[in-house]
Parts: sequence; structure tokens; C-alpha cells
Amino acid sequence: MSISDIGKAKIVYEDQEVELPLMEGTMGEKAIDISKLRATTGLVTLDNGYGNTGSCSSEITFIDGDKGVLLYRGYPIEQLAEKADFVEVCYLLIYGHLPSADELSGFRDKLTHHSLIHEDMKKFFEGYPPSAHPMAILSAMVASLSAYYPEEDGDTNIIRLLAKLNTIAAFSYKKSIGQPYIYPRNDLDYAGDFLHMMHAVPAEPYELDDTLVEALNLLLILHADHEQNCSTSTVRMVGSSGANLFASIASGICALWGPLHGGANQKVIQMLERIEKDGSDYKKYVAMAKDKDNDFRLMGFGHRVYKNFDPRARILKKSADAVLSKLGVNDPLLDIARNLEEVALNDEYFVQRKLYPNVDFYSGIIYRAMGIPTNMFTVMFALGRLPGWIAQWKEMKENPKARIYRPRQVYTGATQRDY
Ligand code: ACO
Repeated sequence: MSISDIGKAKIVYEDQEVELPLMEGTMGEKAIDISKLRATTGLVTLDNGYGNTGSCSSEITFIDGDKGVLLYRGYPIEQLAEKADFVEVCYLLIYGHLPSADELSGFRDKLTHHSLIHEDMKKFFEGYPPSAHPMAILSAMVASLSAYYPEEDGDTNIIRLLAKLNTIAAFSYKKSIGQPYIYPRNDLDYAGDFLHMMHAVPAEPYELDDTLVEALNLLLILHADHEQNCSTSTVRMVGSSGANLFASIASGICALWGPLHGGANQKVIQMLERIEKDGSDYKKYVAMAKDKDNDFRLMGFGHRVYKNFDPRARILKKSADAVLSKLGVNDPLLDIARNLEEVALNDEYFVQRKLYPNVDFYSGIIYRAMGIPTNMFTVMFALGRLPGWIAQWKEMKENPKARIYRPRQVYTGATQRDY
């Protein structure tokens, strides 16, 4: 499926009338192709933070932010969350179709058999201080994979990266708490194996809890792709220079780390803990978030694209209740989150700006209930987002028309002067 040419848009500039191609995507989204604008008029377009700029055409993920719709390869997120597991969603995003039973079992098998990391890489973990943020370790380890696996390995590197990120993520946690690394087990599936590597200790047998496996699958699926967000655009940007898969994904991990992006899930919990310590006075924090002289923001609220409820947050809100009650966890932070949400959703400031809870608002509460520590939350996001990054990187590589990313600017510095 491709973008179709549906006519022309006109720009009037000085005494010129310039016709630009008008394009339409398969879900009816229209766009003006301005790629020749500079050549014909000398003009560039200016769009701070790329809020209204399409950087590519893509067949992977569709979002309608006004209606709160999210589709992976055409399938609604609600259906995938209910019926699929994360490995199936990885296959769907990367290869473009839902796998047949044979394709799925072959894919699972490959992921299982590539989950060990090179023994030498364990020495890298040892070099970090125990206080190291696991995102620092994760990004460095992923870039380092390129030292072990040649670029020519193509599709196998995709499998390696998916399989090994699980192990690297769990090892980075074990390193931070000073426990021995737990090796992957071939009899466990992707999500179960991750929980085992995180929580098992050599002295005791480890029993998997189905509720945790189910919750993790759900969280990973909900994070699996989100079209051209900050980290994905970074992956494409770095990959567009010809950088290898591992280097491109490592840069995406770094982009995800920031608190305005994937780092928000950690910040949400820290915010809720702060409110709890402060007597649970959530109304005070809503007032602070509205005060323009205060740089406090309600973490987990607002989204560049969703101007209606984030469909992922809606699914997670329901799931938070179910998971906590199944696990028998009573978390006061969940009550604060619910109260905060209710007050904010009825407040003129948030209503006017169309600020709703995003995926990160409830994910942290579920991770906490699952025994995953706060500084691992963004690593969990990276695990989930990995198939999306890979799919987007692959799509760009396979597009014969793809070019190096090189935005323009409007220069506002000093005019030419003598030294
Ligand atoms: N709390 C209070 N006010 C907010 C918030 C918030 N969380 N988010 C946006 N606003 C206000 C802004 O101050 C601005 O107000 P103004 O028009 O009076 O100046 C208006 O809403 C628009 O906000 P922008 O920052 O311009 O929106 P932008 O699209 O650039 O940013 C972002 C989106 C980064 C998500 C922002 O809403 C935010 O910082 N949220 C908190 C962090 C967060 O949860 N990030 C996770 C995003 S989802 C993800 O990456 C998985």
C-alpha cells in the first residue's frame, strides 16, 4: 500500500503561485509534499519540535490522536492487548502480518536460542558502579553488540537484538542489586523468561506467576510501537546515515530515557510518592501544575498526538485494578493516581488543553505491583518499544527512496562579522 497523489495544494508567495503535490495515506490523512518548495521558491518550512511535519510515509502504525485510535499494521490495540502475546506482536510489527502457527513457533524458537549474551560482555557489567542507572547500561550494551555481530548478518541481528535485550535488561538489574546474573531458560517464553532472570536467585527454585506473565505481556504490547515519536525518529535519523541496527537502537534507547518521553513512567511514581509523603494532598499538585510560575508538571499527563484519551492508558487503568487485586497488592499510590486523574479531568486548565493521562500514568503502578523497581521502568518501556524501533528501522532500510535525515533551520545568529 502506498501514499496516493490526490491533487495539488497552492502556496501564494510574493507574486508566485506554487503548486505542491497533495498526498493521501490509506486512512485518509492528507499531507502537502513540500520537498520541492525550496528549489522553486527558496523557502523552507519552520515547525518547532516537528509538531506538524511528516518525516516519512510508513505502513506500520496508525494513530488518530483526536479519536484515541491506535492500530499496529491495521489491528486495533484493544484487540491485540486482549488476544495476542508480545512475541506475536513483535512478529506482526517487524514482518507486517500476523504469523501462522508455524511462523510463530519458528520465531519463538529463534528468540529462545539467541537469548544468551557473549560471556565477555558480562565483564562490561562489572565495570559499572552499583548506582548506575540501568538505562545507561542498556544503551551501552546494545551499542556494544555491534562489536560482536557483523552488520552483514541482517535478519539474524534482528532476532539477536530482540532475544538479548531481555537478558541485558535483567542483568543490568541484577548488577544494580549486587546479585548473581540469572541465565535465560529455554523452557520459558519471552515474558516469563524475563521475570525469571529478574527475580530468581540461585539458591531457590523460581515459580512463575501467570498473573505477572500476563501483565507483562500486556504492558509490552501496549508500548510496542507509536509511529514517529522522539525515540523512533531518533532510530530512523541515526539509521538514515547508514549506522548499523545496534547503533541505531542504542540511540533510540537514549532518546527514550528523557523524562518527557519514556522516562515519564519513573517520574510518575516519584511524583505520586512525593504527593503521598506530603499528606496525599493531590489538589495542591494540580494547582502547582497549573501555575505558570512553577515548572512542576503532572507527569503522565498530556501527549503531543493524543488530544483525547490515550487508548493505552484506558486499557492500563482497567488492568491496574485487576492486576493489583489478583496479586493482593494494596497500593495507596493507585488511590492518589485515581484522585489526581479525576480532579485534573474536570479542571478547566486540563480540559482546555486536552490533557489526558498517557500510557505512563498507570504503567508504573502495575510495574511496582509486579516487584519491578522504579529505576527499571524506562528499561521496561525500551523492552516493549524494541520491535517498533526495529520495524521502523527495517522499513527505512528497505525503502529505496529513503534519504539521510537532514532538516533545515532558520538561522537567527550574528550576521557575518570579522575576527
Ligand atoms: N502538566 C501541566 N501542564 C501541561 C502538561 C502537564 N503534564 N503537559 C502539557 N501542559 C500544558 C503546557 O504547559 C502548555 O500550556 P500553555 O499552552 O498554557 O503553554 C500546553 O499544556 C501544551 O503543552 P506542550 O508542552 O506545548 O505540549 P507538547 O506536545 O510539546 O508536550 C508532553 C507533550 C511532552 C507529553 C507534555 O504534555 C508533558 O511534558 N507531559 C508530562 C511528561 C509525560 O508524561 N511524558 C510522557 C509522554 S507519553 C510517552 O512518551 C510515552
